[in-house]
This record gives sequence, C-alpha cells and structure tokens, in this order.
Amino acid sequence: EKGNYRHFMQKEIFEQPDSTGRTIGAYTNILRQTVELPGEGADAIDWSEVKYLYMIACGTAHFATRVAEYWFEQCAGLPVKTDIASEFRYREPALAKEGGLALFVSQSGETADTLAALRYCKEQGLKTAAVVNVPTSSIAREADLVLPTLAGPEIGVASTKAFTAQLAALAAVAISAGRAREQISRDAEIRLVRALTELPRLMSTTLQLDERIAELSRDIAKASDVIYLGRGVHYPIALEGALKLKEVSYIHAEGYASGELKHGPIALIDEETPVVFVAPFDGLFDKSLSNLQEVAARRGEVVLISDAAGVRAAGETPASRIELPDCDPFIAPILYSLPIQMLAYHVAVEKGTDVDQPRNLAKSVTVE
Ligand code: M6R
Repeated sequence: EKGNYRHFMQKEIFEQPDSTGRTIGAYTNILRQTVELPGEGADAIDWSEVKYLYMIACGTAHFATRVAEYWFEQCAGLPVKTDIASEFRYREPALAKEGGLALFVSQSGETADTLAALRYCKEQGLKTAAVVNVPTSSIAREADLVLPTLAGPEIGVASTKAFTAQLAALAAVAISAGRAREQISRDAEIRLVRALTELPRLMSTTLQLDERIAELSRDIAKASDVIYLGRGVHYPIALEGALKLKEVSYIHAEGYASGELKHGPIALIDEETPVVFVAPFDGLFDKSLSNLQEVAARRGEVVLISDAAGVRAAGETPASRIELPDCDPFIAPILYSLPIQMLAYHVAVEKGTDVDQPRNLAKSVTVE
C-alpha cells in the first residue's frame, strides 16, 4: 500500500535507502569488507575465464547496463558490449563463444525481448547470468546464474527503486569480477565496498532535497522539450533522466553525452528549453562546465545537479542548482539517479498525469 505517499512512484523513490541497502547487504560482507555474491550457484561463473561480457536488457534496465559497462571496464578490465534486447536478437550478432558471458538485466524477468535474447544466447552455447528482481520469473529460471536485486515489488510503471538496486548489484559484481581477474587491489576493494555501504545514508540525505526539486519542477513543467546532459558514467544517467521524464510527464526529453552537444543538439538550445546537467565535481567536471557555459551563453536555462564543489565552481552560470552530498565517484551514478527520478515525479504531479499508470505503458512488456 501507498501509506502516506501520494503515489507508488513517490513511495518507491523514498524506499531507495532501504531497497538499495538490502541489495548491497546481500552482496557484501561488511566485517570482511569484501564482496560476496549471493546464492548457492554464485561460483557458477569463473570471472577470470571470462573474455567478453555482453549485457542485454530493455528500457531502464538497459541504462543500468550502460552504467555497469564503465564499472566492468574499470574494475575488471573486461571488454563489454551492451545491447538493447530487441536489437540484439535480430542482428545475428557475432558472439565470442569461448569465454563469452551474456548477462541479462530485468526487473520483471518477463520482458519478451530480453527472454528471447537469453534463449538465443543459450542456444549459441554462451554462459548466462541474470540480474532480476522477481526470483520466480522466466528469466531467473532459465539463466545459469541468478543475481537477485532485493528491491521488493515495484508497482509504479516507471522504474525507480529497481534501477538503483540493479546498479548496486552490478557494481558489486564488477568488484567481484575485478578481484577474480586480479585487476583491483585489496585496498581498492575495501574502498569500493565502503563506498557502497555508505550509499543508503547518502540517499537519505539526497531525499531531503525533495521540496527544493518540487519547486524547480514547476518551471520545467511549462517546457515542451527538456535536454539532459552527462559525461562518462553519468551519460547513461542523463539518458535515464530523459526516459523518466518522458514516461511520467509526457514532456519530450532527450539525453546526450555532454561532449556531443556541439555535434548537433546545441541547435535546440533556446530560452524555452531547460537543460539538466548531471555533473558531480569529478575528473570530467571542467569539460562539463565548459558545455554548461556554452548552453548558458545561448540563453538555455541550466539546471545543474552536482555537489558543493561543483556548485561553487559553476557560480552563477546555472539558473538553478541541486546540491547533493559529496560521495565516492564509484557510487555517484547510483546517488545521482535520485534527483532525476524526483524531478520527473514532481513535473508529472505538476502536470496532473497518471503517475503510476502513464498512458500507453505496461509494467511488464511481454510482447515483442
Ligand atoms: O522488467 P524489465 O526490467 O525487463 O523492463 C524493461 C523495461 O520495459 C522497463 O525498464 C521500462 O523501460 C520502464 N517503464 C522504465 O521506467
């Protein structure tokens, strides 16, 4: 039930310190400060033998794999290819059968294209793993290894807590792969595990920005187009931000890699188009700041989502700022998922749409 919340989406956004904490708890051993994958068959995959990782999913789950792509490359030095399930299956992809692992991500575990892609990979002789939220689902039953997310039932059609639980599980799997492949030191593992375990507290602090974000959303609700920009690991978060806004508010939104701005999307910038920058103060911030200045110079209305150092560095250039607590860059994409969800939610409420059951959408897409 919704309890004191107005919508399931809102309730599920606010559940994230718990749902993510539960998922992280299942993948880590706090005393030993190490990652331990849950379940009996967890050693079904020897990561030191994996040569190529394919990650296949749809919608929001696909964006989780796009974030995880950076983690598997950085922590485990593993070549990764991400695919949208509906594209993957019809392409007759050339797969590395020796050492290839196909990992599927799905909240429902019933998405028709993802399930068909799993069956295809099995027929091709690939090992398979699945990050799923519904342990009794078809995808969970058919994969060689199940990596559960412990988000609990997600009712809102727009995925929120399942996304952050998928990210948390994938982050832990990437650390585990990194250890097996001797790509990360013991000290690095301790740092990354600590970063993961700090996440629920940081999420609770971030959720306190709800009113501030509700206030900002009043202006955004008047727009007919919104652009989301991010770099590196935050590029998929920009894509997810745009998807979330489209789904629940019906406002046209697009996500781009900030560096792509000059290659086309900058033509869209005018005073009517809000541009949301997802940009913590990390090694890429200076580049993002120059993109932000380019947008502001064209009178684009910039909303900066960053931390104290980023907000300080950007000065008065952005029209509005959302300041998140400082965090380890490793977990930043998980934390920065919250404000983009809250923004989409409040814009939808402002517009009076059916937040939990947006038009034309189904919670589980069981037709291809
Ligand atoms: O159940 P799945 O995770 O396989 O679903 C995949 C997509 O259909 C889903 O993420 C969809 O994009 C959501 N409506 C996103 O909010």
